Formats: sequence, C-alpha cells, structure tokens
Amino acid sequence: MYTFQDKKGRSLTLRPEGTAPVVRSYLENNLGREGLQKLYYKGPMFRYERPQAGRYRQFEQIGVELIGSQAPIADAEVITIGTTICEQLGIQDLTVAINSVGCAVCRPVIREQLKTFIVSSLKHLCEDCNRRYSSNPLRILDCKKEHCQTYFAGLPSSISVLCHECADHLSSVLEFLDSAQVKYHVDPFLVRGLDYYTKTAFEIRSDKLGAQNAICGGGRYDELIKELGGQKTPAFGFAFGVERMLMVLKQQEVQPAVRSTAPFVYFVSIGNVAARKAFLFRNKLCSLGIRADIDLENRSLKAQFKKADALKATYVCVIGEEEIAKNQCLLKNMATGKQEQVGFKDLEKKIGSLSEK
Ligand code: HAM
Repeated sequence: MYTFQDKKGRSLTLRPEGTAPVVRSYLENNLGREGLQKLYYKGPMFRYERPQAGRYRQFEQIGVELIGSQAPIADAEVITIGTTICEQLGIQDLTVAINSVGCAVCRPVIREQLKTFIVSSLKHLCEDCNRRYSSNPLRILDCKKEHCQTYFAGLPSSISVLCHECADHLSSVLEFLDSAQVKYHVDPFLVRGLDYYTKTAFEIRSDKLGAQNAICGGGRYDELIKELGGQKTPAFGFAFGVERMLMVLKQQEVQPAVRSTAPFVYFVSIGNVAARKAFLFRNKLCSLGIRADIDLENRSLKAQFKKADALKATYVCVIGEEEIAKNQCLLKNMATGKQEQVGFKDLEKKIGSLSEK
C-alpha cells in the first residue's frame, strides 16, 4: 500500500487497484437492485513496490467488472473481452494462463498441500517466501526469483484437491473458452497478488516483458461484496496494466489501430472573418461533445490541411471568403475524399448526425 501521513498526521492510502472501489460504489449506489451490472473504469493506481521494468509506484489500469453472475459462462465472457482487446490492439504472442484458487472449502486443503511440500526447503528460500509461509503461503508461488522457483518443481497440482463445486466450475469455464476458440493453458502455479479471489483466476501474459509478464490479471471474487457489507454476490473482473500493454506494442513496433467512429472535425479557414466563424463552430461542436480543432497560427491553406492530416481529422471543414459570402462551408470526408456544401445553419446538425452513424 502507498500509505503516508498528511500535514495533520492523518494516515492516507492511495488506491492500489479498482475492484474494491467499484464494489464500494456498487453498494453505495445500490446498483444490485438493477440486476446484473457490467462496469468498466480506467485511472491511475498506486502501490509502494520496488520499482523495476514494468513495475511502477504509479501506473494506469483499465478494468472491467461483471457483478451478479456465478455462471461459468460469465468467467469465459470476461476473459474473452480481455483476449479480444489484445487481438484488436494487435498484441501478439500472448498466453492466457488459468487456474482455480478454490473456495472456503478447498482453499485450506490447497494451502496445507503447499505448506507440507515446501516446509523442508524453507531454509533455501528467500526472505519474502519465508514471510509468506506463515502469512499467506499460496503467495510463495508468486515469487519471481529463479533460485526459489527451482524448489517449486514437483509440487503436486492444486487442481486435484479442488472441491467438486470448484472443479466443475473450472472445467465448465474451460469448455466455454474452448467453444469460443480461446487458446489458454491451465497453470496450477497461478496465484494472484490480491486476496479476494475465489475459483477462477487468470492472467494474460507476454513473453516480451521479462519477470513482470502479466499485462492483464483478474478472476472471480464471490466473497468480496459481502466482506464490504453487501449481500453475498458473485462477481468476476480483470484489469489491464496500460504501461505494460504499451511496452509490448512498442517492442512489436505495432501502432494500435484507432477505430473510433466519432467524427473529428478540423476547421481550415482563410482570412480573419472566416477564422472567427471557424472559432465559433469549433466551440459549438466541442460543447456538443464532438472533437474539433482549429488553426491557431495563421497558417497557409496547404499547411492547415497538412495539420488536419497529421492530427488524423476525419472531416475538414473549409471556410474561406466565398463560403462566408454564401453562408456555407465545404465539408470534406478525409477517408473518402467526398465533399459537400453545408449551410452554416445546418452544420451542427449535419456533424451531429455523423456521430450517430
Ligand atoms: P493486478 O493483477 O494486481 O489485478 O493488476 C492488474 C494489472 O495491472 C497487472 O496485470 C499489470 O499489468 C498491472 N500492474 C499491476 N501492478 C503494477 C505496477 N506496479 N506497475 C505497472 N503495472 C502494474 C488487479 O489490480 C485487480 N483489481 C484486477 C481485477 C479486476 N480482478 C478482478 N477484477
């Protein structure tokens, strides 16, 4: 946790992740009464970790949470959202690792199995592993040190000691993933850093990232909502680490395809009167939530078109002396090259209709 004292000596902690805050908001706003909820969020998170490549004290997450379903198809649906995002961004060579971390019934058995196996090697393991042995033994498997990992070889699979319910749940999730043609592997060593998980846990990993190889992690958390004061409610979610996604894309030298259908209008104007008109319309479009931009540097017509291109504007709206005289502008679709005259009085409506398509 990133915890510090403020000037009044109060202890403050910056949020380390998005799931617990989303659950608190779900409870405070009584979203449960509206049935199943599919939520997403993005924003900075803070963890007081030892910084290294791909591991920072402030980083950005994009996450989704599906609250209200205990069905295995819900797990598979959320996992496929993660794999589809990677696919659409063009991220290659990923592996999807899946495990079940069990429930209140079988987790103690998994924990005991691990403790019994590891106890004789404790003196060879690092300080963190020794600490985790008594505080949270499953997290020992999270140790990234190669030296420690050699002692995990031969550990019996935790899958074999899952209770019936957890084992059935896992095999059903895998069947749904098979039918969606998602490639995955079951990794009985996969444990998650956060303690709220039950049953399915998963990670999307890239071999381009070294030790911090997970670009996305998540799983089921059927007890958290009750722990935070609500009714027992099943839930499943994940979060992507944005910096790690970007690291992979950079290494692959892949520019993510921008597939926004929302129009972005660049106003090209000639002369002072036209510039003021362009400024007026640019502000009107922005207040409608439509992205629009204008030239600020009194550039030539050619330079303004070049700028529109560089900014990847989807439409260019040209206003010159002739257009001012006729109370209209020339609207050019930059993808098709098609252009049409649009009266000033119709411009907002016309561009508004483009964003609805
Ligand atoms: P997490 O595995 O702790 O899960 O974090 C998700 C992702 O955030 C990781 O896979 C990684 O890409 C990125 N990440 C984590 N820590 C750092 C760091 N120090 N520096 C850079 N990137 C980092 C969660 O946070 C859960 N809330 C996910 C979840 C949602 N589970 C259920 N719903």
